[in-house]
Amino acid sequence: MPLLALESLHAGYGAIRAVRGISLEVEAGETVCLIGSNGAGKSTTLRAISGLVRPSAGRVRFEGCDITRMRPHDIVAAGISHVPEGRGIFARLTVTENLDLGAYLRGGPEVAEDVARVFETFPRLRERARQTAGTLSGGEQQMLAIGRALMARPRLLLLDEPSMGLSPILTQLIFERVRQINEEGTTILLVEQNATSALEVSHRGYVIESGEIVITGTGEELAADPRVKRAYLGEL
Ligand SMILES: Nc1ncnc2c1ncn2[C@@H]1O[C@H](COP(=O)(O)OP(=O)(O)OP(=O)(O)O)[C@@H](O)[C@H]1O
Ligand SMILES: [Mg+2]
Repeated sequence: MPLLALESLHAGYGAIRAVRGISLEVEAGETVCLIGSNGAGKSTTLRAISGLVRPSAGRVRFEGCDITRMRPHDIVAAGISHVPEGRGIFARLTVTENLDLGAYLRGGPEVAEDVARVFETFPRLRERARQTAGTLSGGEQQMLAIGRALMARPRLLLLDEPSMGLSPILTQLIFERVRQINEEGTTILLVEQNATSALEVSHRGYVIESGEIVITGTGEELAADPRVKRAYLGEL
C-alpha cells in the first residue's frame, strides 16, 4: 500500500478548476517530485492533500485511510506536514519559538531533543535561535520553515518550492538537506520549478500541466525525456 495516494482528485477555487483529476502515489521512503510551470496546479495539489483546499471530487488516501475531508490539524496529527509556498513562519516570534510551535500537537520532553536535531541539520538556525524570524534571510527562513515542519515528526513532508528566491549555493544546500531528511526516514513530496535539482534528489516524478498529470517516470527517465528537457530543463 502506498503511503499517499491521490485518486482522480479535483480541486479549485470557485469557478477555477486548478486540479483536474490527478492520480499519483508516493511509497513510504520515497522522494517524489511534482514539476510544472506557473499556475499548473502544484500548490493546489499540496493544499488539497493537507486540507487547506477542499477537493471537489476524488480521494486522498494516507496509509490507506481516506483523509479527503479531514481538517488541516487532524491531517498534521495523522503525520503530514506542509511547508507552504512563501514559508508561513511567524515573523514576530524567534527561531526557537517557531520551532516549539511546530511541535504544538505533541509537547513533552522530546521537543527539546527535536529542536537540537533541527539545529544539527541547520546549524545556521542555532546561531540565530533568539533572532525574530522576520529578520532572517530568505534562505534562513526556508530552513526554519522546513525545521518547523519536522518538529511535528511527519511521516510525509510536503515541500512547496523550497528553492524559491535562494542563491544557487543555498539552493544546493537546501536540496542536500532534503536528501538527508529523506535518508533519515521521512517520505517527501516535493513541488519545484527548479526541475534539474528536484529530479536529482527524487526517486520518481510527475509532470503537471493545466491541472493534469502528463508525464511520469523515475528521476533519470524524466531528466532524459525530450519533452521535459524542452519545457522544464531549459534545453533545446
Ligand atoms: N486562492 C486562489 N484563488 C483563486 N485562484 C487561485 C488561488 N490560488 C491559485 N489559484 C489559481 O489556480 C491555478 C493553479 O494555481 P497553483 O497555485 O496551484 O499553481 P502552481 O503550479 O503552484 O504555480 P506556481 O509555480 O506559480 O506556484 C492558477 O490558475 C491560479 O491562478
Ligand atoms: Mg505554487
